[in-house]
Amino acid sequence: MSPAPSETELLDALRSVPDPVLGRSLVELGLVESIEVSKATATVTLTVSVPTDTWADEAGAQVRRALASVVGIDRVEVEFDDLDEEQEKALAARLSPVDEKGARANPFTDSRTRVIAVSSGKGGVGKSSVTVNLAVALAQRGKKVAVLDADVWGFSIPRMLGVARAPHAIDRVIIPPEAYGVRYISIGFFASEAEGVVWRGPMLHKALEQFITDVYWNEPNYLVIDMPPGTGDVALSMAQFLPRAEVIVVTTPQAAAQTVAQRAAAMAKKVRLTVIGVVENMSWFRGDDGTAYEIFGSGGGQDLAQRLEVPLLGRIPLVPALREGGDNGRPITATAPDSEPAALFREIARAVDEDLAPRKRFRPELKIR
Ligand SMILES: Nc1ncnc2c1ncn2[C@@H]1O[C@H](COP(=O)(O)OP(=O)(O)O)[C@@H](O)[C@H]1O
Ligand SMILES: [Mg+2]
Repeated sequence: MSPAPSETELLDALRSVPDPVLGRSLVELGLVESIEVSKATATVTLTVSVPTDTWADEAGAQVRRALASVVGIDRVEVEFDDLDEEQEKALAARLSPVDEKGARANPFTDSRTRVIAVSSGKGGVGKSSVTVNLAVALAQRGKKVAVLDADVWGFSIPRMLGVARAPHAIDRVIIPPEAYGVRYISIGFFASEAEGVVWRGPMLHKALEQFITDVYWNEPNYLVIDMPPGTGDVALSMAQFLPRAEVIVVTTPQAAAQTVAQRAAAMAKKVRLTVIGVVENMSWFRGDDGTAYEIFGSGGGQDLAQRLEVPLLGRIPLVPALREGGDNGRPITATAPDSEPAALFREIARAVDEDLAPRKRFRPELKIR
């Protein structure tokens, strides 16, 4: 019989086990409260970080798996404990460090996260639908994706992604819910629809700042922002907090919508955000006979893209299932991946991720002399 391994050896074996919700190592987050070894039995006590329905099952299974291969251990018992106040503060500080003044830093200041703001001149053109389906399509490409619903007066992301669980607070750090591989936060979680209307000026600015600093975003590859329609305070605030944001303008095919969309693009320029592309939505409707009818006209997206000198990233047809998916929290890209719109959203995601990836830095050492 081999000798029982030490607690340190077991702790090492647990290092690669991630927190099921937070995504980082349980050991590094300080959530392994104790390890005891008695004969060939290891008893591990974990502190539950986010008490979801499945946290304990998932973390327990992963811990058992990680320790199963350790020589000298035949049995693994996992026990669970709640965070006490002190542990909660310590965990919060690990998730989102605070400065001397107690303020949390903007996690996107020096990050490699690509911030994509989805804008339009007016409501109802499909901004939120594009935001959600683009986000899901990026997640399907294996990217870490978060969505920020900044449409303070008409938030719809919780409905469109379905509320898996309410946001959870660890001390003052907000842990966003996740659906279809996308973490998301909406002002809709914190305000009633009526309250949203009165959020203006400095209060609005402050609320948006908190969205960015107090949420545990966990360094996503993409942060996709559902912007409110038109131009104004939110765009100004966002540009200030996220100066590297790239803008996608959504328009419908008719000329009038396109003029309005152009205003959104002009605003982006004014606050020095870069427009990277145009998505035309509600471009056609396919009848039972297979014919595509261009109900709202045609050419608006292409024309706007040309004027802005950016690519037309895609044209999305009018599809009842897309609306239903939005109403039921079942985005079409996730639930009907073989459908025409899902394929089109995947192509938009591919273009954003590959064609529009920031240019690789020039590296002098690679220069051929
Ligand atoms: N391509 C589409 N096909 C069918 N319905 C759509 C399509 N795009 C958007 N919708 C529906 O139109 C309405 C407005 O879209 P939404 O994404 O909420 O627009 P916005 O965020 O610009 O106000 C929603 O009910 C949505 O489900
Ligand atoms: Mg919307």
